[in-house]
Amino acid sequence: MQVSSPTNQSIDVRTCPINLDCWYVVARSSEVKDKPLGVTLWHQAIVLYRDKLGKIHALEDRCPHRQVKLSHGQVIGNQLECAYHGWRFTWEGNCATVPYLAPNQKLPNCKIRCYPVRELDGFIWLFPGDINNLNNNAIQPMGVPEWEHLNYIATVSLIECKGHYSFLIENLMDMYHGHLHDNYQAWTSAILKDISADDKRVDARYEAQSYYKIDKIWSISQLFFPALRRLHTEPLDVSYIYPHWVSTLGKDFKIYCLFCPIDETTTRAYLIHFTSLNAFRRLHKLPIWFRRFVKDSLFGSAQKLLDGLVRQDVEMIEQEQQAYLNNPRHRTYELNPVISSVQKLIRQQVKKSF
Ligand code: FES
Ligand SMILES: [Fe+2]
Repeated sequence: MQVSSPTNQSIDVRTCPINLDCWYVVARSSEVKDKPLGVTLWHQAIVLYRDKLGKIHALEDRCPHRQVKLSHGQVIGNQLECAYHGWRFTWEGNCATVPYLAPNQKLPNCKIRCYPVRELDGFIWLFPGDINNLNNNAIQPMGVPEWEHLNYIATVSLIECKGHYSFLIENLMDMYHGHLHDNYQAWTSAILKDISADDKRVDARYEAQSYYKIDKIWSISQLFFPALRRLHTEPLDVSYIYPHWVSTLGKDFKIYCLFCPIDETTTRAYLIHFTSLNAFRRLHKLPIWFRRFVKDSLFGSAQKLLDGLVRQDVEMIEQEQQAYLNNPRHRTYELNPVISSVQKLIRQQVKKSF
């Protein structure tokens, strides 16, 4: 029997699954230390751990013996040991040791799933899809090249919201919601200038009035003293590079949102804000150790602003989700054409995975 794929119209974007054949971000590198860490990506419980060389591994978070969580166990050498009876598993998901195995017994032939996982640019990227598609298409994690680059100052904010991921990406692509943020936003008065879209991404170009200009060594103080800010026009580009988001405001700011959708009503994501130091030519001639010191000391300098933005956005997204659950048939009215491009891409990506 031939299974037909759903039509675009028949897919409700608010309950859409994800395309599993992508790299998702499940944790920050710094979150995975010497203990196993349990994470969830689209209904799948996964345990992350580091072997004795510090290499990251990802297994199904389920001991095959009695189905308890392996993330409650511990790392022994290169293996993961279950907390309950002490069975140990290799990073490939095979049972390697049962402490009370009798001489006449064989190791149980049980295997749990292991996931392709990579540590890159400060984050743990995981591929939950079909391994054959990974090998055939050479799909790579998007990465965050500014993370290690000495000319960029990073701030990270965690987004945890009780909302479908489509509400979050629509929030990030619709710059007309600057209205919500008032004092927190780096720009104002966005106007949509251009959209382009294909089956992998949506790019929207807005023009906005930016409050900040990072061209003097003391420019960073504009973050704290509004009187130092001067409005000027800058391009504001936002891109949905499925399943993640990237934005630039002029030459000074770049923001990423790395997605980890948990289920139909829960989304986790990491928002990473970079302030560029590219304008400071003299700084680039200084020794690397000093530039590294500057980068590290200023890490998190936009924390209050970023957390404030996230709080306001999450509140709106959760209200949208709740309203949808209360009455899925209530019509919404959309004037920004970027939103329909985003919804089309979400549906296209899901159809690909059927
Ligand atoms: S439940 Fe894991 S070893 Fe028994
Ligand atoms: Fe926002």
